[in-house]
Amino acid sequence: MNPATPGPHQRPDNLWSSRTAFILAAIGSAVGLGNIWKFPYITGENGGGAFVLVYLACIAVVGVPVLIAEVTIGRRGARSPVASMRSLTDADGTRRGWRIIGWNGIVGAFFLLSFYSVIGGWSILYIFKTAAGLFSGADADAVAGIFGAMLASPWSLLIWHSVFMALVILIVGRGIRAGMEKAINMLMPLLFLLLVVMVAYAATTGHFGRAVSFMFSPDFSKLSTESMLIALGHAAFTLSIGIGVMMSYGSYLPQHVNIARTAITIALMDTLVALLAGLAIFPLVFANGLEPGSGPGLIFVTLPLAFGHMTGGTVFGTVFFALLLIAALTSAISLLEPVTEWLEEHKGISRGKSALTGGLGIWAAGIGTVLSFNAWKDFFPLGFIPIFEGKTVFDLLDFLVSNVMLPVGGLAIALFAGWAIKRDGLDQAIGLKGPLYTAFMFVLRFLTPAGIAVVFLYNLV
Ligand code: TRP
Repeated sequence: MNPATPGPHQRPDNLWSSRTAFILAAIGSAVGLGNIWKFPYITGENGGGAFVLVYLACIAVVGVPVLIAEVTIGRRGARSPVASMRSLTDADGTRRGWRIIGWNGIVGAFFLLSFYSVIGGWSILYIFKTAAGLFSGADADAVAGIFGAMLASPWSLLIWHSVFMALVILIVGRGIRAGMEKAINMLMPLLFLLLVVMVAYAATTGHFGRAVSFMFSPDFSKLSTESMLIALGHAAFTLSIGIGVMMSYGSYLPQHVNIARTAITIALMDTLVALLAGLAIFPLVFANGLEPGSGPGLIFVTLPLAFGHMTGGTVFGTVFFALLLIAALTSAISLLEPVTEWLEEHKGISRGKSALTGGLGIWAAGIGTVLSFNAWKDFFPLGFIPIFEGKTVFDLLDFLVSNVMLPVGGLAIALFAGWAIKRDGLDQAIGLKGPLYTAFMFVLRFLTPAGIAVVFLYNLV
């Protein structure tokens, strides 16, 4: 069989060359900043093993079904999210309102990448800072001072944001095979290698046992209703669903690939990386008597402090930030893809120019995030509205994308694929038969939308 059978609208020279190529690209998208700093921390704080169980249930009930639905829609439409939704609603005679899914994708990916890239830039800068030995022997104040000084300098943030975006544009601009696949085939094996190296280092030099018990010993008393909502929200973010990224990636997927099996593989690998990231980070944190604090502080303050006091810390600290950069980069290219694909189709400009145009727009939008940490630190554009009180431009974008566009998009995708899309050959496209398919459709039609709706409403109030 031709490994890359195209669908009616797919160009044979512009498809992932194999199932593995698609899986690696999708794992690259899924594995990002979310896995490396967020998952380990929320796991520890919400009951360890108990939380992991809830998280796995959320992956199964919301993550995997929406991932399957999104890739299926993408492959059927075989165009950018906007054009795919238009073509599917036209062909099936369904309501035009569903097209919002496509637009939500392009706009969401645009804004998410605008701030994701700024943080990606931090990881480049930290590779250099760590390699230069800036943290070696430094005390807590010095390390926090370095982080603070970086945030206080708009120029330094802007430069590294620009470098990061330039890399993303270069990779995406070369196209699916020559650009993305080539980069991913190199970066993903490297990512796994560096991760294993980091876990081995942490296991031999850190407090591995404490990390394991922090992350895994089930403490059901810490598992609140809120923990369950956190698990559900994170399950959606970490699998890159809701804003057209997986739809775009699916539009280059050969017809013979079994989507259900592929989606499960992606979800399992993403979870494995998140668990390993925790086992690479916490042993070092505990070995230095530090707090497993939340947010960027864990990665950019606590960890450098830990590395600064360990043998081999300079080398392994550098390795760690290289790992973070790779994770962020392969997620970022997936975010530029829907925007590029859309420009390519709608404006009829070449792939390279589309990536450049989209990328420059995103770069410019990112300046809002750059300034949120310094000149606009006290600028709260929508501060007069109670839920936006005290939110900077960066906080607003993050809130809008993570808490509104992702859940609304995920909900709409589940409903569209569950209720509205034409059913002919859907089971075959997804790759499920008989009772399995029936069970899957039941989850997609009822449980998935209900789960997302609850989290969405909760996050708003
Ligand atoms: N999944 C990535 C992470 O965990 C982030 C990401 C990349 C993403 N592309 C996305 C999230 C699309 C939602 C939608 O860091």
